Amino acid sequence: MKNIVVLGSTGSVGRQTLEVVEEFPDRFRVLALTAAGNWKLLAEQARRFRPRVVVILREDLYSPLREALPGETEVLCGERALSEVASHPEADLVVSAIVGMAGLSPTLAALSAGKTVALANKEALVTGGELVRGTLRKSRARILPVDSEHSAIFQVLKGQRRRDLKRIILTASGGPFRTRPRESFARISPEEALKHPRWRMGAKITVDSATLMNKGLEVIEAHYLFRVSYDRIRVVIHPESIVHSLVEFRDGSLLAQLSLPDMRLPIAYALSYPERLPLPYPRLSLVEVGRLTFEPPDPERFPCLTLAYEAGRRGGFWPVALNAANEVAVAAFLERRLSFDRIPVLIEETLSRLSFSGKPGSLEEILSADRRTRALAERLVEEWTCSP
Ligand SMILES: NC(=O)c1ccc[n+]([C@@H]2O[C@H](COP(=O)([O-])OP(=O)(O)OC[C@H]3O[C@@H](n4cnc5c(N)ncnc54)[C@H](OP(=O)(O)O)[C@@H]3O)[C@@H](O)[C@H]2O)c1
Repeated sequence: MKNIVVLGSTGSVGRQTLEVVEEFPDRFRVLALTAAGNWKLLAEQARRFRPRVVVILREDLYSPLREALPGETEVLCGERALSEVASHPEADLVVSAIVGMAGLSPTLAALSAGKTVALANKEALVTGGELVRGTLRKSRARILPVDSEHSAIFQVLKGQRRRDLKRIILTASGGPFRTRPRESFARISPEEALKHPRWRMGAKITVDSATLMNKGLEVIEAHYLFRVSYDRIRVVIHPESIVHSLVEFRDGSLLAQLSLPDMRLPIAYALSYPERLPLPYPRLSLVEVGRLTFEPPDPERFPCLTLAYEAGRRGGFWPVALNAANEVAVAAFLERRLSFDRIPVLIEETLSRLSFSGKPGSLEEILSADRRTRALAERLVEEWTCSP
């Protein structure tokens, strides 16, 4: 029986994690669940899965949550409590499924405590890549990727010799605007951007998929996870989202992992690794799919991908700044304060006005670079909104 902590249990990945857990009650026990503000769903999940502890980020929601739950469930609130449950002495596996940079501190707490982390929260690795690597070297901790692309690569690399690896090829669906005329990008509404053709996901990652920043963040994630240089990570557009990524070996062979686009597969693999569970979900029929297509990404249409490669290559604090500027840009777009076509413009402009020296040596330094970038990006959004 594995004791599982789900950070971000009310989100898309969190809810699908609990679906898998529910299928296999003899294998997994839920130890802790967390949410930011959705206390009603958290309470519902807690009544169903009976975790020992639940955490709600917003302190003003402690009372309604406390009242909704039986006395034996411990209820905690605030940021520090997230890290406390992430490093709970009885946790065997921590699912890191908070969205954005907010997931970094609890993910680092889990790793520092030597836990196995099933990582969906790519922003944690993008912003804290160096620290995470350092922590992994010093502890018994390990990361099992949940992102479908990284899970695919992880599965393909199993049993292979590292020196045989030539390059990683990440697939991208291309999002909803792959073929839409670029001149109309300024008029794209949040509702349109939130309609992903293949995946049902949280709002932030869905917008990131539409700009291809999601793939850019995944390039940086792959760099840190698999210790591969940026020159050896490629992106290919694959609208069907059936091939979840590939590895090219030095003899020219390409190995891939294929399945229907269903996050419950990579989630289940991370939960049960190295075993595979007999999952009851719909299966891929290649005959039904019929055709798989691939094309190169268009850098003019999707400048975010180029921005991410640049920030990754520069290293140091630049991925932190890239991520922070992107989080501000996406939030501003969803609030209709920034048009879709200006998301990459805002990120580029923000980064061009910043300077950093050295490499992140501590979580505090990363958080400080993040705050500095957010303040600048917010100021730019305001200036742009006010200017005629
Ligand atoms: N969704 C997918 O299919 C998918 C696939 C691959 C990777 N990922 C990655 O997985 C992560 C989660 O994505 P998602 O789509 O599941 O996001 P989501 O649906 O927006 O859920 C986010 C979760 O994080 C919580 N949360 C939000 N802000 C927080 C904060 N400041 N502190 C603590 N908790 C916070 C939310 O709580 P409330 O509900 O209370 O707001 C919710 O439980 C992202 O990094 C994403 O890139 C997602």
